[in-house]
Amino acid sequence: MDARAIIAKLREKQTPSQDELTWFAQGLASGAVSDAQAGAFAMAVVLNGLTDAGRVALTQGMRDSGDVMKWDLPGPVIDKHSTGGVGDCVSLILAPVLAVCGAYVPMISGRGLGHTGGTLDKLEAIPGLNINVSEKQLRLITREVGCAIVSATGQIAPADRRLYAIRDVTATVESVDLITASILSKKLAAGLDTLILDVKCGSGAFMKTPDEARALARALVDAANGAGCKTAAMITDMNQPLAPALGNAVEVAVCMEVMAGNTDVAPRLYDLTVGLCAQLLIMQGEDTAAAVGRVKTAISSGAAMERFAQMIAALGGPPDMAHDWHTHLPKAPVVGEVTAPATGHISAIDGEALGLVVVGLGGGRRVETDRVDPAVGLTEVIGLGTAVTRGDPLCVLHAANEDDAVEAAMAVQAAITIGDAVEPGPLVIEGIT
Ligand code: URA
Repeated sequence: MDARAIIAKLREKQTPSQDELTWFAQGLASGAVSDAQAGAFAMAVVLNGLTDAGRVALTQGMRDSGDVMKWDLPGPVIDKHSTGGVGDCVSLILAPVLAVCGAYVPMISGRGLGHTGGTLDKLEAIPGLNINVSEKQLRLITREVGCAIVSATGQIAPADRRLYAIRDVTATVESVDLITASILSKKLAAGLDTLILDVKCGSGAFMKTPDEARALARALVDAANGAGCKTAAMITDMNQPLAPALGNAVEVAVCMEVMAGNTDVAPRLYDLTVGLCAQLLIMQGEDTAAAVGRVKTAISSGAAMERFAQMIAALGGPPDMAHDWHTHLPKAPVVGEVTAPATGHISAIDGEALGLVVVGLGGGRRVETDRVDPAVGLTEVIGLGTAVTRGDPLCVLHAANEDDAVEAAMAVQAAITIGDAVEPGPLVIEGIT
């Protein structure tokens, strides 16, 4: 087969055959498809789309581009995946919570994508940590600790690993077909029993409207259930950052605070994490009140924090993360407030623009080879609906140098609208089964 013929079909709004999409996925993994061809393929799919059958064929081809894991563990193998947002660090808390609740979570995660942060980049803010483990290590850590948040090993969905990095820098993220194939190829290859999908909707998400989010949720849920993995989705609000911090080390710090029991530092992050964990336990047959109670206790007892620290140590990070995280996380040299240029209420937050501020500070990538600065970002980001007086802080900026800080401060002020009072929408918009 010839990659050019497959890309040409997509260009002409035809869907390539199942064999062609499988071949293309294999070619992404083997290198038979070049970076230029992968970029052109992604752009053609973004612009012209695949049929439902084509999306399933691409998902399966990408899943089968590497190993598909099978487990034999004394509890359910479950996981969550988000379609991407800003300040969304749920995974870092959710995985250890579920492990405390008796489940096993082999969480194959991604790096930053477009304006959104990536779980792996966040974890790598912890010194010494290595998320590039072998399949054998992934199995061992999952069995012994109960959770392992890692990169797709060389053998798990290698086609996604390559296409993901290319999409990140070619403006080819926003596609139901590509997001479905990307998320599900790695989740199905991880051999899960049950999956919950957090489909983000709003200014900081790839899907800006409920209709777009619903279409993505439906595509994901249908394709995953069709492939034999019990899957549901929650459409959740991303019209403001989920946690009041955006960046890598700063998001890890917020998660540590929540797991230390200081849930008030990030109430929306806490509530959504509890909701997603509980939903997974409910899908295992547990009663709602019992599921919510177990999840909250896993956090308030400190058990989730201990489990997180065990996972960090198993991945080569510091052994005392549960107690001494402040000393381990890198700090930016320039720290300062961004202030409100007017008086009024925070009436809109452009989450995508805020995410791009973090990329601009060096917290994400503009080209595949960029090195991420783990220390930069925003903290204490003001919430939607808050009343402000001119000069009040909108957030605290963490930058590598003064020039970056000045540029970022102007971009933050432009991303946050001060106007009339607004009531933020519900955190969970709807569930899809
Ligand atoms: N998360 C992924 O893993 N892939 C996407 O395409 C979007 C979010």
